[in-house]
Formats: sequence, C-alpha cells, structure tokens
Amino acid sequence: MVKLTGLKKIKTAVFISGNGSNLKNLIKFSKKKNSPISIDLIFSNTSKAKGLRFSNQFNIRKYVSSFKNYKTAEVKILNLLNKESIKFICLAGFMKILSKNFIKKFSGKIVNIHPSLLPKYKGLDTHIKAIQNKDKVAGCTVHFVTAKLDSGKIILQKEVKISKKDTYTSLAKKVLRQEHKLYPAAIKKVFN
Ligand code: GAR
Repeated sequence: MVKLTGLKKIKTAVFISGNGSNLKNLIKFSKKKNSPISIDLIFSNTSKAKGLRFSNQFNIRKYVSSFKNYKTAEVKILNLLNKESIKFICLAGFMKILSKNFIKKFSGKIVNIHPSLLPKYKGLDTHIKAIQNKDKVAGCTVHFVTAKLDSGKIILQKEVKISKKDTYTSLAKKVLRQEHKLYPAAIKKVFN
C-alpha cells in the first residue's frame, strides 16, 4: 500500500486511450480537499484519444507516444514520470499492456479500472461476454496492476444489475456511471 506523507497530494499520472470520462471524473475528484492525489500528467498512446482535450480544459500537461515500439515509448514515459516526480499512476481506459519492467519500476503504485467483476472477463469485450452469457449481474473493478493482465489485488468492486432489455451499449453506460463512483473511492482506500 502507498502511504500518504504529510499534507501534500500524491503526484499522479492518468493513462488513457479513448474518451477519458474516467479521467475527467478523476480530475474533478483530485481537486477536492479530501482527495489524496493531484493529477499532474495525462498520457495517451494515441493522439486520437478524445480525453486529451481535458489537458487544455484543466491545464494539465499531456504527453502522447504511440506504443508501436513499446520499449522506446516506455523509456520516454519513465523519464517524463521521473522528471515530473510522478508517484502514482491510474490507468483509465488505457488499452495497451505495460511491460513487466515498467510495472516493476512502479510496483504497487499503478491501479486500473476494469469493466467487469474480476476475475470474471479479463481482457476485452466484457459487456458483450456478459450479455451473451445471459449474466444477471455485471460490474466494475479497481485493482492494482501486476505483470499478469487484470489479475492484481482487487481494491474495490461494484455490481450492476443486467436487465433483460440491456444491450451492450446500455450496459456499458450503466457500468461507466458506477466506475465514476468507484474509482475515487478506491483511490481513497489505497491511501487510507
Ligand atoms: C471504461 O469502461 C474502462 O473501464 C474501460 O474502458 C472504458 C474507458 O472509458 N477499460 C478497459 O476496458 C481496460 N481494459 P473512458 O475513456 O470514458 O474512461
């Protein structure tokens, strides 16, 4: 567990690949007095990520590097994280897999939000799988990131009921609403 030292907020980077609704939500949370983190860097593996717009809106430094050569990309990111004294990383819809080496450098200091009730449905297409399997509940999980995909220690989970009318899209929306509550709660738990 990461311990909060003094009254200073922990400098945090958020890694995204897409819309960034979790990023926006985390930025808003980080501005609250009771947030243990401040968000000081946004990283994306693609310049197409819509969430990058929150960099300008909230005046947070952004950095984009494709993961085509992940080794080069990770070295560049690690240098920047060091330079900016980043101590904690939140993955929020980041669709690349970080290397063992990268994770080791930030051991116990990377968390991820995943749109399923882990250990069920690791990886992609979680909502499609839940609907196809006629599950009655879906949900989301915040967990520590380890070298094994979506398998690190679970911090918090939230269940969401699946109704007969739910489609992949409606379920994704329902789960995302809960993600926005779960992620800040999980971060508070990490630092308490
Ligand atoms: C969220 O549902 C998140 O849980 C999921 O991508 C979405 C990103 O939404 N993450 C993963 O699937 C990671 N494997 P956002 O860009 O609006 O935060």
